[in-house]
Amino acid sequence: MSIANSESPAASDAEPWGNNVKVEFEDGIAWVILNRPEKRNAMSPSLNREMIRVLDALEVDERCKVLVLTGAGESYSAGMDLKEYFRETDNATPVEVMRVRRDSMAWQWRRLMFYPKPTIAMVNGWCFGGAFTSLVSCDLSIAAEEAIFGLSEVNWGIIPAGNVMRAVAEKMCTSDALYYLMTGEPFDGKKASETRLVNEAVPLAQLRDRTRQIALKLMEKNLHVVRAIKLTYRRVKEMNWDVSEDYLYAKAGETYASDPDKGREKGMTQFLDKKAFKPGLGNYNNET
Ligand code: COA
Repeated sequence: MSIANSESPAASDAEPWGNNVKVEFEDGIAWVILNRPEKRNAMSPSLNREMIRVLDALEVDERCKVLVLTGAGESYSAGMDLKEYFRETDNATPVEVMRVRRDSMAWQWRRLMFYPKPTIAMVNGWCFGGAFTSLVSCDLSIAAEEAIFGLSEVNWGIIPAGNVMRAVAEKMCTSDALYYLMTGEPFDGKKASETRLVNEAVPLAQLRDRTRQIALKLMEKNLHVVRAIKLTYRRVKEMNWDVSEDYLYAKAGETYASDPDKGREKGMTQFLDKKAFKPGLGNYNNET
């Protein structure tokens, strides 16, 4: 059975990617590319384990300021691997199944949703089933208008698990969610944007440039503060107003105290004393 350890020795080298995932660095962006194009980037147990190691490594890699998750070839990802994730685990013990599922969830939402760096999902093509979890767990998402999405589980007789249904409920309104969950009907990138499943859709030819532009815009910001914003947002969504008021004041103080750039100080001085910029219209100058 392939679920125990199907990685080649390359997986334990200094850079943990290479078998199922490719990583390319460019101007502070780490392009993390699910790399099984011949299987439409379906997520196998070994891909899931590799992604955990990739996220671990990029967390402390200075070449990665913003992480973009995408897929090789014509797919973002065709979802969970029906052969390696489903059929080949049908006869595994409950503990083995639990381990396989845990690895999958470990990166697709648990790590990704609370990743300490900004994340953008770039949906370049097919995006089915299990792929919705990582898509929704990224902070931002840009799709090609031509990309095809589908909650296809109903088409082959299962319910969308792997937190897919929870992910859909996070972004789509109930009428859209139930329509696509119950019919399994595919929809394109434009529709994904209309339903707010993704931030925006652009023609495929512009997808990489637009994603790059957004990543660079994020990098102009104080990334210590950006990190605090994305993490606190995820938490306050689950809180009532009294608790979130208290939590946010505490987090604001902590963020300010631990900011290596002392951005708040610079921002106030440049606006109030030097009259050098307007916070409503742009960013403070980190050089002064
Ligand atoms: N799991 C396992 N293998 C998959 C896969 C998946 N989710 N998606 C694609 N593949 C494999 C195919 O079995 C095929 O393998 P083979 O060459 O060894 O026969 C290969 O990838 C190419 O797939 P193919 O169907 O020929 O490509 P296509 O471009 O014509 O169609 C899709 C692409 C994505 C529309 C189609 O592959 C598909 O429907 N995949 C399943 C999507 C799905 O429902 N995912 C939800 C899982 S929860």
